[in-house]
Amino acid sequence: MSDREKGLSRRSFLKTAATVGAALTVSPALNKVQAAASDSKPVSKGKAKAVNITARRTLGSGKATFEVSALGFGVMGMTYNRSYHPDKAQCIRLLHDAVDRGVTLFDTAIIYGPLNNELLAGEALEEFRGKVNVTTKFGHEVINGKATGRQDSRPATIRRYCEESLKRLRLDAIPMFYQHRFDPNTPVEDVAGTISDLIKEGKVLHWGMCEVSAATIRKAHAACPLTAIQSEYHLMHREVEKNGVLDVCRELGIGFVPYSPMNRGFLGGDLNEYTEFDPNNDNRTTLPRFTPEAMRANYRIVNVLQRFGRERGMTAAQLSLGWLLQKEPWIVPIPGTTKLSHLEENLRTLDFTLSAEEWKQLEDSVAAIPITGDRYNAEQQKQVGF
Ligand SMILES: NC(=O)c1ccc[n+]([C@@H]2O[C@H](COP(=O)([O-])OP(=O)(O)OC[C@H]3O[C@@H](n4cnc5c(N)ncnc54)[C@H](OP(=O)(O)O)[C@@H]3O)[C@@H](O)[C@H]2O)c1
Repeated sequence: MSDREKGLSRRSFLKTAATVGAALTVSPALNKVQAAASDSKPVSKGKAKAVNITARRTLGSGKATFEVSALGFGVMGMTYNRSYHPDKAQCIRLLHDAVDRGVTLFDTAIIYGPLNNELLAGEALEEFRGKVNVTTKFGHEVINGKATGRQDSRPATIRRYCEESLKRLRLDAIPMFYQHRFDPNTPVEDVAGTISDLIKEGKVLHWGMCEVSAATIRKAHAACPLTAIQSEYHLMHREVEKNGVLDVCRELGIGFVPYSPMNRGFLGGDLNEYTEFDPNNDNRTTLPRFTPEAMRANYRIVNVLQRFGRERGMTAAQLSLGWLLQKEPWIVPIPGTTKLSHLEENLRTLDFTLSAEEWKQLEDSVAAIPITGDRYNAEQQKQVGF
């Protein structure tokens, strides 16, 4: 039996197991973070039910509508910026595990690697074309496979990046193409116009932007309706609540995809002042919040999550993701992982319901703790908020 055939028969087995598991449980209709009563009850014969998320959320509105699983999967850390990673076969297997468990939104970008993250997503998910969506991002200049550190969103470059991404992703159309960072040398109307043409040509289905201001979102949306804004948002970075970005998304019917929803793993509780990052493949070494001193100080936040979760049978990771999900029904976080145990834990977030008062209590407890260190260094900060 070839590796692919083994993979397929394994998936058929998992699908059957998931169906049987689903039949054994009362699967809640999940467009909010619900608590299945069954969570606190023993499951028959001691067997845990298979994770299978059926909850879907809608990003964007009108012609820009895009329906996806309520939680997505960030592919980036499988090859880039998250230190040590498993080999390709294990990554592919985990991506298939995510598909088997109901995830339909996978997030990558040209700059991740560069290129090898898109290649991984393309190879792993090709067989699910039309059933799952791989979203990718252009903008950071990549020449001969190397990042230059510059932005290039000129129309001709977007077109070239689109063709190259389609090949790496093994797709005929990119489900959603984001501008990764604003290009100060290319007016947003030109970017939106180019995407509009690519949509007309059937090469791009939806578009989004990352880390832009409310004013830019308005201009871009007027030229070509946006499906989603993807910016950093989690319990330790709530800027989009204050700078008008979430307000403008609400007003214009644009979805929101919080990236690094667990603050690059920190809120999951597995990282601390002794954690060693790979100096050659981990941007956390450049972030002020990931110095040993900052992590030691900020660990108080993880302690709050852990204490709060202990009383409810939830983990710190589930609370960080659940907090985002309960904010708005048009928010779809994209946590990344290299581990099946974490994938299942993250997806099970959807099994819990907390009251609005409980979320407020958690939010207030976290907000009472001063955060040590900025989220980005000065150079990285210069690229956001246009
Ligand atoms: N648009 C942008 O500018 C931008 C920037 C950054 C990221 N992104 C996107 O956002 C996605 C996610 O971001 P991210 O990887 O930076 O941050 P994240 O999802 O907040 O954290 C990922 C890290 O958390 C760990 N983790 C996952 N589940 C866990 C759990 N249940 N308990 C403890 N630790 C857990 C993972 O380690 P293990 O492998 O050990 O599970 C991984 O290193 C990326 O893949 C990318 O697609 C976009």
